[in-house]
Amino acid sequence: MTQSIAKEDSRMTGKTDLLTLEEFNPAEFKSLLDLADRFKLERKERMFGHQVPGTSLALIFEKPSTRTRVSFEVAMFELGGHAVVLNSRDMQLSRGETLEDTGRTLSQFCHAICARVNSHDTLVSFSRSADVPVINALSDRYHPCQSVADIQAIRETKKNLKGLKIAWIGDGNNVCNSLLIGAALTGMNVSVSCPSKFVPLQEALSKAHEISKLTGSVLEVIESPKDAVKGADVVMTDTFVSMGDEEEKKERLGVFLPNYQVNRELFSKAKADAVFMHCLPAHRGEEVTSEIIDGPRSIVWKETEDRLHAQKAILYTLLNKYAIEPDSS
Ligand code: CP
Ligand code: NVA
Repeated sequence: MTQSIAKEDSRMTGKTDLLTLEEFNPAEFKSLLDLADRFKLERKERMFGHQVPGTSLALIFEKPSTRTRVSFEVAMFELGGHAVVLNSRDMQLSRGETLEDTGRTLSQFCHAICARVNSHDTLVSFSRSADVPVINALSDRYHPCQSVADIQAIRETKKNLKGLKIAWIGDGNNVCNSLLIGAALTGMNVSVSCPSKFVPLQEALSKAHEISKLTGSVLEVIESPKDAVKGADVVMTDTFVSMGDEEEKKERLGVFLPNYQVNRELFSKAKADAVFMHCLPAHRGEEVTSEIIDGPRSIVWKETEDRLHAQKAILYTLLNKYAIEPDSS
């Protein structure tokens, strides 16, 4: 398993965090996807067999959220646990209490901490100070929970993941960074197409390349969107202006448009059965046209639904691991 700060900490505390996705090896990641599928099936039959009763999750938001907040809160409810939703502005954090004291405090009451943060380092501080699992609900660098759902949705649609080609078009952002690691864990290939100023994090590429040695994934970063979509099974994009990048909006739209918009012309260069994905929220007319995101080959609503099932699998895995085998890692 790839080493990380989170992993080093987990050896001391018995917990496993989810900060990037590198915390899982390929076999563990497959089990997570299988569990997410099981949760999806069970929910359709209104069965809630796998539970973590009596557990509480601290769910902290420094940035807005619709999908992540609701899916985590519903996930905890359906798992028989409870989520305490905290806007960071309402916490003593906003009056200068340290991240370390906050992490330690929350881990006295809650069995896991999940946070959407401006700076990824905030999660690392929580991880160091809390002796319960810390889950990344989106940071400036990674969005691992999104990638679990995305890959669940791809597997459901395409069946076998190994050898599939994903074309990522646009900003090499947090979602792209986690996708690279997730794809590497599952043997999928990724062609990231972005302007040179907006490439994925070198750190994420290195982690993904390291994992790809085990799975055979081919990962590349190129400029041309047309080359990236050629032969792609999945075409994926995200906003050109992530939360925190608002001041660069004008510059970014100038760089990305029109070349990096997923529209009919670009999408037609992918495989005939290629699907379109987007983590949402979307900006129709910017990174994607309505015709594509609302068209027959878009699987964005399956992708969105899978956030709930994926989150349940993540919570069930991390909470049980922590509760049942605290000394095993
Ligand atoms: N995709 C995603 O994380 O959506 P929210 O920002 O609404 O949580
Ligand atoms: N890249 C986007 C994802 C939103 C879910 C952002 O960070 O704002």
